Amino acid sequence: MNEIPTLPRLASSTGGLPSAVGWAQLLMADRLKKGDSAVDATAGNGHDTLFLSRLVGDSGCIWAFDLQEAAVTETKRRLSEAGISNARVIHAGHETMKDHLPAGWHGKINAIMFNLGYLPGSDKTVITRTETTLQALAIAFEMLAPSGLLTIAVYPGHEGGSDEQRAITEWASALPSRAFEVQLFRPINRQASPPECWVVWKRG
Ligand SMILES: C[S@@+](CC[C@H](N)C(=O)[O-])C[C@H]1O[C@@H](n2cnc3c(N)ncnc32)[C@H](O)[C@@H]1O
Repeated sequence: MNEIPTLPRLASSTGGLPSAVGWAQLLMADRLKKGDSAVDATAGNGHDTLFLSRLVGDSGCIWAFDLQEAAVTETKRRLSEAGISNARVIHAGHETMKDHLPAGWHGKINAIMFNLGYLPGSDKTVITRTETTLQALAIAFEMLAPSGLLTIAVYPGHEGGSDEQRAITEWASALPSRAFEVQLFRPINRQASPPECWVVWKRG
């Protein structure tokens, strides 16, 4: 495996500030180290799974979930092409995460990444759904280790996305500050509904 992860650039491809996923990856790169464990809750085309796999290295452990077979196939292809063997790609909804992670790992996962919305280049009607997203986030907290990091890239611009954004905003804003730190990275001077990145740190 290539031991040096391709770190995200602080500037986006236009030379501007990081995208929602860019912020998530930067924070993951800052926190995760070799031998750590992480979950990619929305594998999609496998970019984030590959990124996380490289951060934790051969001694680390990754679980990736997606509802769509095409996403699972593409993620496995991408990992195999990169010679990655530390990741398990699971064809199931992230709301079933607890059933798929071995019990010994519950409460020990160092980072969990959600990248909501639809699979780029695919059927835009298969999107993350508010109800299952909220279920999965609650379970993700159970799976997360003390001092663990959770990121959520939210896309309010597509159909159904603004409802999901509202629900995440309510959920995140209500998290007790004695147990969690919560931050939001979001462009504030754009007319449209730009993607945003929520970050939750579980206090150690
Ligand atoms: C924006 S894409 C993820 C992009 C991906 N992280 C990457 O690096 O390419 C969102 C993905 O979430 C998946 N998805 C939708 N509902 C899901 C669920 N309940 N559990 C897991 N994945 C889900 C979709 O199939 C889609 O592939």
